[in-house]
Amino acid sequence: MKKFQKKNLSHSSKLWLTRQLNDPLVAEAKKQNYRSRAIFKFLEINEKHQFLKNNLNIIDLGAAPGSWSQHTSKINKDGVNIALDLLDTKPINNCKIIKGDFTSDEVQNKLVNLLEGKKFDIVLSDIAENSTGNRSLDSMRSNIITVEVMKFSLKHLKKNGKILIKTFSGVGNEEVVDMAKKNFSKHIFIKPKSSRKDSKELYLYCIL
Ligand SMILES: C[S@@+](CC[C@H](N)C(=O)[O-])C[C@H]1O[C@@H](n2cnc3c(N)ncnc32)[C@H](O)[C@@H]1O
Repeated sequence: MKKFQKKNLSHSSKLWLTRQLNDPLVAEAKKQNYRSRAIFKFLEINEKHQFLKNNLNIIDLGAAPGSWSQHTSKINKDGVNIALDLLDTKPINNCKIIKGDFTSDEVQNKLVNLLEGKKFDIVLSDIAENSTGNRSLDSMRSNIITVEVMKFSLKHLKKNGKILIKTFSGVGNEEVVDMAKKNFSKHIFIKPKSSRKDSKELYLYCIL
């Protein structure tokens, strides 16, 4: 394998790499065979809200590299698990992988066919777009995605179904709050301890 040349990286990539190498949760995820430290955010939220069970229809939007789906597919062993991402996701036991943009008609039709008319019990979204470096713009783009995930959920979620969506506090958040209030019987914003303190990332948990 080609040796990694840190000196060839941009400043922001060097900062990211240094943080990864020094982050105990990155090491812990690796030790537990999870593909990403993101798993700890999911575990923390599920420990409090206890939504993950067996025999459910679950979709994980923005699933790659796949730590959330690795876990949900183990617990939901007799149910349907779908991991969807723009990028390739390596195979996961007991999980159907779909590559594509969840907002496209093509992907949504594929999902409807796959579920044979059934709906989801849980919609997860840890979607993050590449940062532009401009915090306000990033938070605005992320909130547009959050609204899209909520629209997707309103179409494909069962009554009493649960959604967990990564979102950001800041510009555009009002529309997210408004939509959550109007369409879901319960909504709560969560900042897990394992979410980096310097990130404006939050998770929105809702029940239909
Ligand atoms: C933070 S990562 C998810 C990590 C994941 N929860 C895990 O446990 O490994 C965010 C992912 O969202 C994906 N993504 C961004 N926009 C998307 C879209 N419109 N449709 C599907 N996936 C998208 C990115 O490709 C990226 O892989």
